Amino acid sequence: MTWILVLVAIGLLSAVLLLRTRRTRQKNEPPLDKGIFPWLGHALEFGKDAAKFLTKMKDKHGDIFTVCVAGNYVTVLLDSNCYDAVLTDTKSFDLTRYSQLLMDRIFNLHLPNHDPVSERKRVNQYFNSSNLSRLCSTMRNNLQFLIASADTQNPTEWKKDTLFDFCYSLLFKAGYQTMFSTENDNTAKFTDVYEEFRRFDKILPKLARRAAARDELKFASSARKRLWELLSPNCFLTGSVTQSWMQTYLQHLKEQGLDTETQRRAMLLQLWVTQGNAGPAAFWLLGFLLTHPEALKAVKAELCSLQHLPLDKTEDTPVLNSVLKETLRLRAAALITRDVMQDKTIKLSNGQEFVLRKGDRLCIFPFLSPQMDPQIHHEPEKFKFDRFLNSDETMFCKEGLQMKYGTMPWGAGSNLCPGRDFAVCALKQVVHMILTQFDLELCDCNASMPPVDANRYGFGMLQPDGDLKVRYKLKKHN
Ligand code: HEM
Repeated sequence: MTWILVLVAIGLLSAVLLLRTRRTRQKNEPPLDKGIFPWLGHALEFGKDAAKFLTKMKDKHGDIFTVCVAGNYVTVLLDSNCYDAVLTDTKSFDLTRYSQLLMDRIFNLHLPNHDPVSERKRVNQYFNSSNLSRLCSTMRNNLQFLIASADTQNPTEWKKDTLFDFCYSLLFKAGYQTMFSTENDNTAKFTDVYEEFRRFDKILPKLARRAAARDELKFASSARKRLWELLSPNCFLTGSVTQSWMQTYLQHLKEQGLDTETQRRAMLLQLWVTQGNAGPAAFWLLGFLLTHPEALKAVKAELCSLQHLPLDKTEDTPVLNSVLKETLRLRAAALITRDVMQDKTIKLSNGQEFVLRKGDRLCIFPFLSPQMDPQIHHEPEKFKFDRFLNSDETMFCKEGLQMKYGTMPWGAGSNLCPGRDFAVCALKQVVHMILTQFDLELCDCNASMPPVDANRYGFGMLQPDGDLKVRYKLKKHN
């Protein structure tokens, strides 16, 4: 009996496999590239280094193509002038299904009434302009407190550190304190949360792709379990005067009738969304400055002549703004994914029209275009600190056409990062504090930037495969 069931299962599986791989390109559909392996298609290459794989496909097929990835057909769109039109059409391109799939794979989380549109409204309200300046000044105080408390013993002696951990831990702890903390928390708790989070975050891309080995799975689930404990809703139920981000979020989850277990799992998701990008961004920002002396000199000169803080006026810091934009152009690499809900025709900038098939997935990768597109940016691989000095978004062209954007680190359309102004403010503040209060230098003055960890393309800010060793001490005049 059992072997009959096994045979039936194998038969069904083969039939599904055959059906999925027998797909042919229909008239007006994008070029189809199924890869050589049935069902698996290009899954391995895509997962290993998405940027390399998609660049290869772009060179072969152009700005739109469909690839087979582990049984799914994914249309990749790389014409950035069409991104807005696609991302605002929430009827044809659904965001919920794929984000629920990731929530389940990464966070073991199922939000039954998840409504991204009302969720987005709530988040935007939190980051509105009046709350933003309060958040920015709280963040500044928290950063200042952490910097000062790290340096109580022998403040004028050189200390050594690795830049990635230095930046990630600083931004994470200050960010956590700003958005999640209650009166009962202390710096030991921030360190606990940070360390477990880093363990979990290391394996996160593999969890998303279901590519984690058994020991990695074990490691990630133990870090996740510990984080659930640390983020237990009971910890946030103290009656502080101003509600933190976490308290407003908890209230929202309760109003949706979610149980305590789901609430704490949802909080880990929030922790990742709000604290997973700023630390790595600060690393690249300071790393590019330290390895490009002319950029460092220009930024220091600009910051020394600054009359006032809190650096929330963009016109005060044109050089630092350009450095930040250039850093994000080179290292922000989110992959935006949607499910195609109905056959849909899209028109590229050159006038060509393509039909996207219902049931497929659509992926947009602003990292490849516009950010690293050699037709838009001259020598796109190079860090040029003044690339965005005296330029605005309207100055970018490709094949004679004006581009809507030169960079899109914050996503686009309905998925634009609501924390972007807060993130910019925090990053500028941390650079200001470190460069004005500390002497910071590379241990090896000839060191160059480490390469990126190719495993992380698609997951927001990239992380390095390696690090930079730095030494720092408090400046004498402090
Ligand atoms: C350099 C730092 C950052 C970058 C590059 C960045 C980028 C992004 C991107 C591309 C998305 C869209 C992701 C997607 O839908 O697939 C996003 C979403 C989001 N970001 Fe950021 N982000 C950064 C920092 C922050 C910070 C500091 C906060 C909060 C304090 C924040 C809050 C959020 C939230 C809440 C969402 C989800 C919005 C939603 O679910 O609709 N981000 N971010």
